[in-house]
Amino acid sequence: MSEYQKIESALIHGGIYGDAYTKAVNVPIYQTSTYEQSGLEENPQWEYSRTGNPTRAALEALIAELENGKAGFAFASGMAAITAVLSLFHTGDRILISGNVYGGTFRVLDKVFNHFGIGYSIEDTTNIEELEKKITEDVRAILVESPANPLLTVTDLGAVAALAKKHGILSIVDNTFMTPYLQRPLELGADIVIHSATKYLGGHSDVVAGLVVVKDEGLAKKLAFIQNSTGGVLGPFDSFLLIRGIKTLGVRLDRHVENAEKAAKFLTEHKAVKKVYYPGLPDAQGYEINKKQAKNGGAMISFELYENYNIRKFFKSLKLVALAESLGGVESLVCHPASMTHASIPYEVRQKVGITDGLIRLSIGIESIDDILADIAQAIAESEE
Ligand SMILES: Cc1ncc(COP(=O)(O)O)c(C=O)c1O
Repeated sequence: MSEYQKIESALIHGGIYGDAYTKAVNVPIYQTSTYEQSGLEENPQWEYSRTGNPTRAALEALIAELENGKAGFAFASGMAAITAVLSLFHTGDRILISGNVYGGTFRVLDKVFNHFGIGYSIEDTTNIEELEKKITEDVRAILVESPANPLLTVTDLGAVAALAKKHGILSIVDNTFMTPYLQRPLELGADIVIHSATKYLGGHSDVVAGLVVVKDEGLAKKLAFIQNSTGGVLGPFDSFLLIRGIKTLGVRLDRHVENAEKAAKFLTEHKAVKKVYYPGLPDAQGYEINKKQAKNGGAMISFELYENYNIRKFFKSLKLVALAESLGGVESLVCHPASMTHASIPYEVRQKVGITDGLIRLSIGIESIDDILADIAQAIAESEE
């Protein structure tokens, strides 16, 4: 992976550590748009901060090292990162996407990239044999999330990467839910990893950011060109915040997951709960595959209540767990995918892929699990009709 034997050390010391000039242990915030050049045509290392900035470069080197890639790119949001990756494709190309992906990924393909003649189709990426049948001449990439948002569906990332390789197309993994601490898709053969770094990597719900990592030099050159040409770059201060957040990723995620495993067990045993979606449960779809490709089941859980529980009342009754978009921060959040994160997906498509109106998605934080579970329990009790 890197010069460090364990990712716990690379999280803190990886990429570009500290400041060579002052020996500060933290990378400074180079809050500058431009750099003085010593003369014409002397090819300076830094020329303009859209093209490159030392704080952003430190973050880009760090995420590349953590994902075991060759080059990292930081963007102003996860969607800007996805947009940059989709900008690799041309009119007439088509991309296969997982049945349930983040609503914004669907929306940018459905409402923006279709203007440029780049198509998509939603496929069951968990069924590799069926997926292969969908790879026609025009298909140029497979874009998956595993576990996917919001049903935590697990796709075999190694199998998808091998399939893509066989057909000479790209495999792209949105690794937002897992982070390199729990899962490293490039090591499984994927070509491109994307993050909404807004989530676990930032970890404190105080920054919106996106990252891309690749291992192939040709792809890296193309992405550097797209990043500079389209300009959706991450600013120096937000780059600093991400470097700071990543240092504690390991300890945060250990606690997130410990809490999530307890929450999943609690929900499974609760009489009001009809179904729990959590890849860390032995009877979950893709449990064995997830175990093989990731460290554990992560800290996102979705569930459905029986019909005699009113979910509006449930959301209103929560006190500690906040009803909010996003996930992966230290605080527990809950959302209603059908009307929030996945509202941009038409009703019929949502029904087809299983995002029901009763689905509740939890991002389990690092508070005391007793307080989290007590809050969920009282809100369920309040919602009984
Ligand atoms: C899996 C996933 N990918 C991408 C995004 C988009 O990231 P951002 O909100 O940082 O633009 C999100 C946002 O929720 C997400 O959950």
